[in-house]
Amino acid sequence: MAKAAQYAAIDVGTTKVCTLVGQTNASGGVEVVGVGVVPSRGLQKGMVVNIDEATDAIRASIQRAAHSSGGQIRHAYLGITGSHLTSVNNRGTVTMVRPDRLVAGDDVSRVMEAARATVGVPNNREVIHVLPRGYTLDGQEGIRNPIGLHGFRLDVDAHIIMGALTSIQNLTKCVEQLGVTVDDLVLEPLASGEAVLTDDERENGTLLVDIGGGTTDIAVFQQGSVAHTSIIPIGGHQFTHDLVIGLRAPYAAAEAAKIAHGTVEPDGVGEDEMVELSAFGDTAKRPVSRRLMADILRARFDELVELVQAEVRKAGYLGLLPAGAVLTGGSSGLGHLTEVAEHLFNMPARIGRPTGVSGLTDSISAPAFATSVGLLLWAARFGDQEGRAQSGFSLTEWIQNLLTLLRSRN
Ligand SMILES: Nc1ncnc2c1ncn2[C@@H]1O[C@H](COP(=O)(O)OP(=O)(O)OP(=O)(O)O)[C@@H](O)[C@H]1O
Ligand SMILES: [Mg+2]
Repeated sequence: MAKAAQYAAIDVGTTKVCTLVGQTNASGGVEVVGVGVVPSRGLQKGMVVNIDEATDAIRASIQRAAHSSGGQIRHAYLGITGSHLTSVNNRGTVTMVRPDRLVAGDDVSRVMEAARATVGVPNNREVIHVLPRGYTLDGQEGIRNPIGLHGFRLDVDAHIIMGALTSIQNLTKCVEQLGVTVDDLVLEPLASGEAVLTDDERENGTLLVDIGGGTTDIAVFQQGSVAHTSIIPIGGHQFTHDLVIGLRAPYAAAEAAKIAHGTVEPDGVGEDEMVELSAFGDTAKRPVSRRLMADILRARFDELVELVQAEVRKAGYLGLLPAGAVLTGGSSGLGHLTEVAEHLFNMPARIGRPTGVSGLTDSISAPAFATSVGLLLWAARFGDQEGRAQSGFSLTEWIQNLLTLLRSRN
């Protein structure tokens, strides 16, 4: 029997690097056959700031995943985040050239390319995704898949995501110098959405919020497609740092206390509840008020929600997302986050755990692995060339050209 095709995904987070190896099983599902999770180094706010340190962490993660899968990793899908990533909506238009005016796959590729070509990309920035939001054929709006229909003029409303060339270059360099070819870059909230959202949520309108260690990545889904994306440079690190300042505690102690006792609902904490925390330069522990901790964490969460709401407003979806907010990422483990988020966002909220894979899932079932699992699902879904071209989700060939260009500049 032929060996099942394997694919790999690397999630280079600010806190951890997670490499997953998967393969499609007999029933068409994705089975995780290799896992490598190691602490991250050399990253700040989702971006590589020290190539050597980041490369070492990525190497360790890849080696673990390869070891557990019993094979080598030569290609991988790679997640990308950081506030250098921006998005715009743009329209592309083409006319049908065939005598029968039938829309074919290459017309869809042409119209996506037209949307990309007319957006105006500065020299120091590069396009990462061109995502179709909907097509219009001869003025008829709201067409999801125009292939097979007849028409003279095809328009696409596309969501275009671009990033700083240097940040893309720094991240891909870390992976490629380990002998691993980057198949494609995937914006992290899109990957997270792949792992935690239901089709119903995407269809009816939902806000995905991935609160990681260095960034909060958001994506608005509506009518099955991506309407808006944004990266906010605030994550768990900033929550912990606020505790360091507010409680005058060392970072490691503040981080441990946040994970064990952190909540964003001070009213749910008794006035006299105390938490033992080590102090600077002292081996002895001292009691600190858990209510004070909660006040500090809540202030940061209030600010974060305001920034997220500003993005939703900017996208024009405030009050228009009936499926509510899905919160994921490691920092979604903060106590009472769902209730407080429902109150602040004024919509339903739930915690999103990654689903959709089988196999070695024990260590990757927590919300912190939403991006990692989503990247693997992405690789499985768009990994074959035909699937990508038809999805219009990613200009694979174009990305490959970019990567070749970047390599030639190194
Ligand atoms: N139970 C918990 N309560 C609060 N915070 C938590 C909890 N568990 C983990 N965290 C926080 O989650 C963060 C790590 O999340 P995650 O693994 O999603 O980040 P990352 O992918 O490494 O970073 P990023 O995607 O932002 O680059 C850390 O800041 C950690 O403190
Ligand atoms: Mg992450």
